[in-house]
Amino acid sequence: MELNSVNSEQELFLLNWEIGDLIKKLRKFGSKRLEINPQTLNSLENLVVTVDTFLKNKKPTNKCEGQDNGIFDKFFFSRSVHCKQCNQAISTSKPVLVKHLKEHVCITPSQVLLQALKGFDKEKKTSKPTTDKLTQTEVKAKIEPGKLQKLLSTSKKKVKPVQVVVPQIDNRPKVDKEYVIQGRLREYTDGLTRRTKKFLNIEPRVFIKERATKCSEIANSSSYDAVLTNLEGLLKVEHPNVKGHLFGSRLLGLADDASDLDIFVDIYSNYDGSVKYSRGTLQAFILKFEKILKKSDSWSRVVPIISARTPILRAWNFKEKINCDMMFTNGLSLSNTVLTLYFFDLQPVCYYVTLYVKEWSRYLRMANLNSYTMTLMTIYYFQEYNLLPSLYELQTDCGDGCYITQWKTNFKRKSLDELGIPLIPECALETYILGFFSFYGSRFCFETNVVCPFLGWSPLKVDFDPKHNDIPVQMEDLRAFYDSLDMKNASPLHDLFAHKKPMVVQDPFELNHNVAKGLVSVDVSKIKQYCILTAELLEENFIHVR
Ligand code: UTP
Ligand code: MG
Repeated sequence: MELNSVNSEQELFLLNWEIGDLIKKLRKFGSKRLEINPQTLNSLENLVVTVDTFLKNKKPTNKCEGQDNGIFDKFFFSRSVHCKQCNQAISTSKPVLVKHLKEHVCITPSQVLLQALKGFDKEKKTSKPTTDKLTQTEVKAKIEPGKLQKLLSTSKKKVKPVQVVVPQIDNRPKVDKEYVIQGRLREYTDGLTRRTKKFLNIEPRVFIKERATKCSEIANSSSYDAVLTNLEGLLKVEHPNVKGHLFGSRLLGLADDASDLDIFVDIYSNYDGSVKYSRGTLQAFILKFEKILKKSDSWSRVVPIISARTPILRAWNFKEKINCDMMFTNGLSLSNTVLTLYFFDLQPVCYYVTLYVKEWSRYLRMANLNSYTMTLMTIYYFQEYNLLPSLYELQTDCGDGCYITQWKTNFKRKSLDELGIPLIPECALETYILGFFSFYGSRFCFETNVVCPFLGWSPLKVDFDPKHNDIPVQMEDLRAFYDSLDMKNASPLHDLFAHKKPMVVQDPFELNHNVAKGLVSVDVSKIKQYCILTAELLEENFIHVR
């Protein structure tokens, strides 16, 4: 990388970006290959030593915080831009850019785009004559990446898709056309509603303080024991070993008065899921318990929800005035509550950001977006910046596997020191709130990538196609599960990971579960658009406050 024409701050940003790019390459390589040759190993060792030496005489500063919403936005680059579709560095030459666009969007590049790219040619024509504009122009012109990214999205929105042969490039993952077409998000251009703006104009810190106090009261409520005792009492007559376990937002300190109380009703000591109840059995439990609760004097509004992936019984406990969601399968949901609690404990700023994001998501008014998805997205955002460990890291060397159904659920509760992760100071809260929105608004590519708290980095959706063998090697349990399936008869709803959906947020334990599978394309666009606008508004507010 040429650094002559940039100042020292820009150099630092360039370095930051190049390191980010290298990390992505290493992760991708790590997920595809199990072996490494001695030369590469040598080079990696050199890298570690060099980084170590580099860091030894450096003093950390917060100076760059808050600018992480797009390190390219303010600088000119001479060699490459970052493609938001696939997170790769793309050389800024016309043939490469045009070829890259074709790969992603299956279109003939629009006239607008071609017109814009002509600018490159003009600038360089004097220095190097060309014969074939599309294949031989080697342009090293400067381009403002922000502009190019805008062009990339403009071309996708405005051009009618035309089937073209997608050129296959050596080591890139194969992207089938059907996927690419399905993967394109529908346009959403509306602004934030008045109510959303009103919420965003409250100082985040003030909102969080108030909400955290309220949530802590809710988490410590004495009503829950009463609900469990009542429920167990009613069901014990027929099922003497029945036991109720709580999970979800009321345990996590994320609940408000409207939150339900999530209960796993364990009827036959099946916490580990060793018995796989059929849907018929679960429906029979639910219908039987519906009758029992309807007869009792503490429950009303009893509604079985049988068609859901996990069938539940919803009921209102009018003594304690709480809506309860009861499920009967196994203890998997408790495991993710335990993991989330550990993350919140490890990095309390992650908890505060989740509180804020959860409230923010209400203003989206999206019935299919559940709170759990927002929680996982927040955790993943911190993992992406190496401020929380991946579940994979916590499960490596954590002793014998403790399984619920086919998913390993135990993990080592490592401290920040053991993990080599700094504690985020609470004074940096706003930076991370802003960071969350700019990350999902401008940096994360929902069209192609998976939000993956298990890995802590983002694999491609196409890697999960069960027809190929590209599932990241770290996901041994998912690979083994797929190997055990008869793919012809596998159920897309219950067995297969819904990797082609517009938004893919993978459950950290249940690796075949996309918790955001209910969202349609325009929902995802709206989330993205809201993130962008929210980041802009918050940034304005912060600048105003500073
Ligand atoms: P909820 O949707 O009730 O979310 O899922 P919540 O976190 O309790 O938030 P509220 O109720 O909107 O305040 C409850 C729990 O169910 C598990 C998670 O443990 C979640 O915390 N869950 C939910 C899953 O395991 N998978 C899912 O797809 C959804
Ligand atoms: Mg809940």
